Amino acid sequence: MFFARLSHPADFDGWREAARRAVALGVAPDEMSFVVGEEAPGLFAEPLPEEMPDDAPPIAVAKAFPDLARNMLCHSDPERFLLAYRLLWRLQAEKGLLEVASDDDVIRAREMEKAVYRDAHKMKAFLRFREIETGEGRHYIAWFEPTHHVVELTAPFFMRRFAGMVWSILTPLRSVHWDGADLSFGPGASREDRPKEDAAEDLWLTYYASIFNPARLKVKAMQAEMPKKYWKNLPEATLIEPLIRGAEEASRRMLETAPTLPSLRHERVMEMGEMARAAKVAAVPHGGNQPQTLDEARAEAKHCKACPLWEPATQTVFGKGPEDAPVIFVGEQPGDQEDLAGEPFIGPAGKVFDAALAEAGIDRTQAYVTNAVKHFKFTPRGKRRIHQKPTMGEVKACRFWLEIERDIVKPKLVVALGATAAATVLGKTVTIRDTRSRLIDIGGDTQLLVTVHPAYILRLPDPDAQKRETEAFHADMGLVRRTVPEIALAA
Ligand code: URA
Repeated sequence: MFFARLSHPADFDGWREAARRAVALGVAPDEMSFVVGEEAPGLFAEPLPEEMPDDAPPIAVAKAFPDLARNMLCHSDPERFLLAYRLLWRLQAEKGLLEVASDDDVIRAREMEKAVYRDAHKMKAFLRFREIETGEGRHYIAWFEPTHHVVELTAPFFMRRFAGMVWSILTPLRSVHWDGADLSFGPGASREDRPKEDAAEDLWLTYYASIFNPARLKVKAMQAEMPKKYWKNLPEATLIEPLIRGAEEASRRMLETAPTLPSLRHERVMEMGEMARAAKVAAVPHGGNQPQTLDEARAEAKHCKACPLWEPATQTVFGKGPEDAPVIFVGEQPGDQEDLAGEPFIGPAGKVFDAALAEAGIDRTQAYVTNAVKHFKFTPRGKRRIHQKPTMGEVKACRFWLEIERDIVKPKLVVALGATAAATVLGKTVTIRDTRSRLIDIGGDTQLLVTVHPAYILRLPDPDAQKRETEAFHADMGLVRRTVPEIALAA
């Protein structure tokens, strides 16, 4: 009987190395065992030999096996290491084993994988950070009690999502820390290690109470999605029971004070699901009261649901800059980094933009920079989020925010970076070729300058073309500076 020691409960790399060695040494599954950390091995077990035999045949694994093994090893079942090893052992002779849906080992492995996915999903949905101030700045700490060992599995998600924050996630068996550059894992912690309430939590509670819709209350569905075991670590959970208790009364009050019902035609339009038209009706987030300042507009845009892009995005990325800026630059939509940071043009396209402004001697802090669409549209591909062009419906749904920004800022010049921005400002599709590099009167003492989007330059594969386009873009920024000289960098 042999054993291999793993360094932590979801130590896939340690398991894989030992399992490959055990197969090469011909150790049958009922001769093998795995222990974690300081755990004692069986009485008669001896350490698996360190050396790989020279004449070992290559190990065969089905393509799908490494992912399956990695996921199932996060399960809390103590049998997981051995089951994964038995699958690896059997795969040496049974190449199509993973496709045998009726095989008991395959069934159990898939069940484990599914349970792990579910647990990872719950962790992503129900984990809440608390903020503490340390001598070195803000630190966000969360306490969570997963059912399985999903800390390693979910850490990359939190890292991408909260890249700009310093945070730690503590669980009973494992902890993970992100210092803004590196992820590191450590031993478990106890519930008492987490900090007590913070100011952000009060805000979150107020927000939760305000979005709670008693008319939509389905207690069973809510508990299925958010099982009670997670409630104790959710600040908003303290509100759930009183809100449920008050739901009937609140629902009655809502009916009594409901506005006049929409017309049948309106409902039909909504049902058609036609984005652009639906958006016009549904998206009046300022409730008819036009925001008077950029801060008011920004605060309201945070809750904008005029098109479906709000849902997968991290946040609304509103424009940035002074209220009396003489120029508004309009891009297409925030990218991955902008979505996480909540600021326009700070990623790769932003670097090209900044370089062009610097070349033209323009002070970005004196300009207002925004986008035609205020939410990041993307498709996930592996760990990355790939930019997707917004549809005309999405552009139209978002247009009133740009109009509000223009109404408040009243710029002398609007610069449309790319065709989407130009179409949003002009209200019709235009080509860059036909409109570029000349001042177009758009009324209200405002002119429009259309130029390329900086990401277009970045994507050009040919270095010569890239150089040409960079120069042309710089020339356009030169025109911006000549048109609005007050935006020049201080000498
Ligand atoms: N591209 C845009 O159009 N806007 C941004 O903010 C970033 C990239």
